[in-house]
Amino acid sequence: MCGIVGYIGTRNSQDVLLEGLSRLEYRGYDSAGIAVMTKQGLEIRKAEGRLENLAGRLEGEPLTGEVGIGHTRWATHGKPSDENSHPHTDVTMKFSVVHNGIIENYLELKEELTAEGVEFRSETDTEVISHLIAREYQGDVVKAVQQAIRHLRGAFALGVLTEYEPDRLVAVRCASPLVIGIGEGENFIGSDIPAILQYTRRVYILNDNEMAVLTKDAVDLMTIEGNSISREMIVVDWDALTAEKGGYDHFMLKEINEQPKAYRDTMRGRLREGLSGVKLTELKVITPEVLREIRNVHIVACGTAYHAGLVGRSLIEHNVNIPVETDVASEYRYRKPIIKPDTLVIVVSQSGETADTLAALREAKRCGASVLAITNVVGSSVAREADDTIVTWAGPEIAVASTKAYTSQLIAFMLFSLYWAEQVESLSQEEIRHQLAAIEALPEQVELILSQEDQLKRVAEDMAKHNSLFFIGRGVDYAVSLEGSLKLKEISYIHSEAYPAGELKHGTLALIEEGVPVIALVTQPALIEKMISNMQEVTARGGRIFAIVDQAHKEQVAKTADEVFVLPTTLAHLSPALSVVPTQLIAYYASLALGHDVDKPRNLAKSVTVE
Ligand code: F6R
Repeated sequence: MCGIVGYIGTRNSQDVLLEGLSRLEYRGYDSAGIAVMTKQGLEIRKAEGRLENLAGRLEGEPLTGEVGIGHTRWATHGKPSDENSHPHTDVTMKFSVVHNGIIENYLELKEELTAEGVEFRSETDTEVISHLIAREYQGDVVKAVQQAIRHLRGAFALGVLTEYEPDRLVAVRCASPLVIGIGEGENFIGSDIPAILQYTRRVYILNDNEMAVLTKDAVDLMTIEGNSISREMIVVDWDALTAEKGGYDHFMLKEINEQPKAYRDTMRGRLREGLSGVKLTELKVITPEVLREIRNVHIVACGTAYHAGLVGRSLIEHNVNIPVETDVASEYRYRKPIIKPDTLVIVVSQSGETADTLAALREAKRCGASVLAITNVVGSSVAREADDTIVTWAGPEIAVASTKAYTSQLIAFMLFSLYWAEQVESLSQEEIRHQLAAIEALPEQVELILSQEDQLKRVAEDMAKHNSLFFIGRGVDYAVSLEGSLKLKEISYIHSEAYPAGELKHGTLALIEEGVPVIALVTQPALIEKMISNMQEVTARGGRIFAIVDQAHKEQVAKTADEVFVLPTTLAHLSPALSVVPTQLIAYYASLALGHDVDKPRNLAKSVTVE
């Protein structure tokens, strides 16, 4: 986790670093710090807590200089505190380092350095890096960094400065993301593109085990062994404004409201004329021939993306009639999954940088499977390492709680499953057209749901008075229940659990008593009667049901539920793309009612690059 940024040029670096860190705060906000090359040498300011604390400190004690590095922290080793904040330095304070990732062997290295007389000032794993660089320094910082990182095991992206060579900024990428921004007489580093987008659209994306040496007029790219490399420059075509709040109070609300656009953008150019089929020209390795040979599918992801994978499983099984398993990425490798060359592994990741998902991808490739990525970030690690990638065009997602990225993943699964169905003829042309027409109608239907947010706000404010609540559903409604429950607990801190509705009576029903709120997802016509029985089990114990129900069953469900929210009509297996939206708004308004920081919930970060 953590975000890093660096600048070398002619502007006052403090301003550039603070601006960059404000874009990276989603990656962690336990503390922030910057190091600037001033006339007096390297000077550092850091502060525990949000970036505003650092900004406040800099107001009183500003730093002036044209070269600097900055960091926003999500604590892994050592509690959030000023001492544990980055940048870290060596004993002589001549070297300064910012780091994103984890050094797995830092304890060993710390013992070794302590035995050599080094006194540590923090509890972090990062501090060993600054001491190692200082130890290896013999007049060339690039060589010192190369030598130092040979000792490291783990994941790291680094920004390094030394007072001895004030006109150079060294950047390293080993399993944690890093991009280089190219300006006119100035250059940048950042953990992601939005961190530097304010200043330049021209970027190089470093691969693992590569580094860059920046001066204000040049960038040299090389492997960590020092072999020069060349890289195509990417010109980013989205602007910084896209990443702003655009009039909404929070990024999350903005992103919920952007879903119709995200659906349309993810479909754009992928529907054949007359809705006769799906075009996925990006599938170059996973060709129709390859798809015809696939015998089973593993979908692997974390958190919300995992929940999208659960819906993906239903879509592929429904449309392609092939067995699918969905796994949490942090479990996948360790359960020794049976991965064969005729297995298709689909990794789903908004950021494309999630460490567990990336590790699962690598394991799948090692076993010879075909690997397809569904991600929102072009050029991300997942996108680069998979055989092929379906990009979800949700645009930058800033709120920690994922909304539009999740629903765009559902659209990607819908399109991919229909594309595949066509290749293996598991569905008729007519059925494909029928489903595509329903998919094409989804954005407008989401708009209709969004226009009814007043009801959801009122319900959320009521739910916010409770300490605990439940979500229930069957089939894909259960998958959506899991996502609704995660969203609610993540940003409102209200305890919430999701259960398959039929499973409640096997234990959890004991927790249902007078007034306990239960959100029931009821969109599956084939399961309606069973669902109503399960709802009655709840109301008989005094539980209060808010049902999210499809148009066709609203009257039937209203007889058991205390209140209903009615969804527009769609096909049963596409319903998650609609039914999840009210749960997102309930989570948002519950968090707001409780006065929490909606966009930056406690203990969480947007991009989880540690295992
Ligand atoms: C929750 C949320 C997380 C992410 C998870 C995976 O709202 O956003 O559960 O879904 O950390 O992240 P990505 O999709 O970037 O791999």
